[in-house]
Amino acid sequence: MKTERLTPDPDGLERAADLLVRGQTVAMPTETVYGLAGDARDGQAVARIFAAKGRPAFNPLIVHVPDLDAARRIAAFPDEALALAQAFWPGALTLVLPLRRDSGLAPLVTAGLATVGLRVPAHPVAQALLHAFGGPLAAPSANASGRVSPTSADHVLDADGGLGGRIAAVLDAGRCPVGVESTIIGWPLGRATLLRPGGIPAEAIEAALGHGLARPAADPGRPSAPGQLASHYAPKASLRLNAVKAAPGETHLGFGTPGPFSLSPTGDLTEAAANLFGMLREADRLGRPIAAAPIPDHGLGAAINDRLRRAAAPRD
Ligand code: TXA
Ligand code: MG
Repeated sequence: MKTERLTPDPDGLERAADLLVRGQTVAMPTETVYGLAGDARDGQAVARIFAAKGRPAFNPLIVHVPDLDAARRIAAFPDEALALAQAFWPGALTLVLPLRRDSGLAPLVTAGLATVGLRVPAHPVAQALLHAFGGPLAAPSANASGRVSPTSADHVLDADGGLGGRIAAVLDAGRCPVGVESTIIGWPLGRATLLRPGGIPAEAIEAALGHGLARPAADPGRPSAPGQLASHYAPKASLRLNAVKAAPGETHLGFGTPGPFSLSPTGDLTEAAANLFGMLREADRLGRPIAAAPIPDHGLGAAINDRLRRAAAPRD
């Protein structure tokens, strides 16, 4: 299959929507990372997403909708969920909520779970595609399973760890402004729980709720809490964490210091998040071990550290 690179103008959006209607997969930009979209009501389309990514079928996908009304047709919204949706949507927040019986989603999207991860993306091209398509779009990050998430169309098409030739098209809208995936909140034991740190700082969510978030103990093998799989976001090179300096032969992924692979020379966490996956890829291309500087563990730093820890996790 030849993957079409589409411009996000009316013609490109119409082409993308048409491919989706026909059950094909299209990579779309969101404010966090590029997602590999398919019709969430069409089991075949969802199966194509899993096949293109080589993703284990027990890992449920996030469903993207244009607004809260569309989300409420798919899932039940307890009061706290409604408050968070109103505060942070559209934006980098995914809510894991009880699936409605009449949701119309293909069971494969939720991997058979009774809950669904829902998100209203803020990116204008994602919004335009959702409106042109007119239905919910399942979209995990548009990378091969276990590889670094894509923050540009070039990453999506990358010969190594990308999906070029395995998907119908990519809508090219340049770089993703946030650069790390959405924050995931669920209520697994009835308490608001941070299932994945991400583009919206946990502190902001706690402020909106008026209380703290529960944090599950890390349990990387378990699919129902998105601890994901032990090694995720993996570069090919080894990755050493909390490295104030690089050892000879290492590439230094810096923070708060200048350098060719400095996530943010000024120590700005927003800039560092936006650069993270792109710089991990570029550093990995040099074929040398990577040493990442310590990153403050607050705000977006928590999401960056989560991704770095996963990238450094032992591989199988
Ligand atoms: O920013 C993002 O969230 C990006 C963009 C494309 O929207 N998407 C993304 O999707 O990161 P993905 O599939 O790579 O990660 C989704 C995570 C997975 O770890 C999955 O286990 C979890 O969300 N998830 C989805 N539905 C769930 C559910 N019903 N219960 C628990 N976890 C769920
Ligand atoms: Mg992913």
